[in-house]
Amino acid sequence: MPSEEHTGKSQPPVRSQPFPLEFPGVHYFDEQEIEAVKRVLRARSPFRYYGVDLQGEAEAFEREFAAFVGAKHAVAVGSGTGALSVALAALGVGPGQEVIVPAYLWVSVVAAVVNQGAIPVLADIDDTFGLNPASVQARISSHTTGIILVHMSGAPADAPALAELARQHGLWLLEDCAQCAGGSIHGRKVGTFGDMGIFSFQMNKNMTAGEGGCVVTSDDRLAQRAEACHDLGYARDRNGRLIFDSPELCLWGKGTRLDELRAAILRVQLRKLPVVTAAMRRSKYRIRQALEAFPQVALRRIQDPDGDTGCFLITTYPDAETARRVNLALRAEGIVTYPQGISNVLMTDWGLHLYYNIPSLVHRTSIDRAGFPWNLTENRGLGGNYAKGACPAADSLFERSIVLAIPSCLTRSDEDDIIRAFEKVLREHLSS
Ligand SMILES: Cc1ncc(COP(=O)(O)O)c(C=O)c1O
Repeated sequence: MPSEEHTGKSQPPVRSQPFPLEFPGVHYFDEQEIEAVKRVLRARSPFRYYGVDLQGEAEAFEREFAAFVGAKHAVAVGSGTGALSVALAALGVGPGQEVIVPAYLWVSVVAAVVNQGAIPVLADIDDTFGLNPASVQARISSHTTGIILVHMSGAPADAPALAELARQHGLWLLEDCAQCAGGSIHGRKVGTFGDMGIFSFQMNKNMTAGEGGCVVTSDDRLAQRAEACHDLGYARDRNGRLIFDSPELCLWGKGTRLDELRAAILRVQLRKLPVVTAAMRRSKYRIRQALEAFPQVALRRIQDPDGDTGCFLITTYPDAETARRVNLALRAEGIVTYPQGISNVLMTDWGLHLYYNIPSLVHRTSIDRAGFPWNLTENRGLGGNYAKGACPAADSLFERSIVLAIPSCLTRSDEDDIIRAFEKVLREHLSS
């Protein structure tokens, strides 16, 4: 609990009650999700390709999700990590290839590249907290085959510029939209700027079934490959039977199918997604507006506020020490979700979202004794430095920024508390 010891003052903290936990979708669970699960159970058909009385939930979810995003195809999978791995397999990623990834990401992104036998190359971010196109340009080599852009912390990266850059260099672009489901840039949904997009429906995400993911694309061939790779490596006919006479689709499976139970939940959550993101966006922009009175606090550059899903607020301070003190003081004012929440953290404590916090990347850990994939002959000389210092703009933003989760069920009075706490702390800690 916040205490005088933390604030160093006798004034009571702004807030004594913890905030709701920061899991956007689950706050909106109601009878509809329960009914959806019951429907599948009653039909005794939890597997997507056949059953006693197959409900076709996964297939319907794919159709509905593709239509929502504005892509031609969707392949529902078991997780966002699975989706990344399926997408890279569909794109034909393997040894001898470099894949550009951002300094601000999630460990699964690099894991997917390394597991394919390819080598990740870090590029720096800018004040959108997404890939900086100029840094990407500088990291393109003769071995680069593609770019993974990650729409981090709820708001889109500069996808149009990166799509153009990829096009100019003949590279593929994969958008990781795990943290940005429902996000858009001037009306165009994330996931449709690149050759492929991936989503996660794990519990921290804007819509959830606890676990789950999806791959989207408008390219027929990539869609077929993704469908085969997410399953057993082969296409299936309308009755769910495997097809072996299509040489193009005799591939290797990743075993990451989505089951009917979670697909049924996700169909309900998809219908609620615009309401969930609108609630977070409304709260976030109310708080952002109040922070505009403090010119020393830099607010993340948002390309299109209407397309921001609103699940995180990032504030940046003039130096690392100020950021640290502001974060401690905000927490002491009760701006925390606990016991499990990690809602208000200094970005350097944001774990495996930061490239230099990923030990297996920094140390080029291998999966096998032969040093796969780093020691493969094809990969000799590829990659670069992964230790702190490799991406200076990101390093500076990380140590000067605080990331605050915006729960999807904040009341006006909760928002008032956050605003009052910021105002109190900033007046005290920012020199005028
Ligand atoms: C940016 C990003 N990519 C991929 C993933 C992986 O998703 P999952 O946890 O569903 O495997 C996550 C999940 O945390 C993520 O934040």
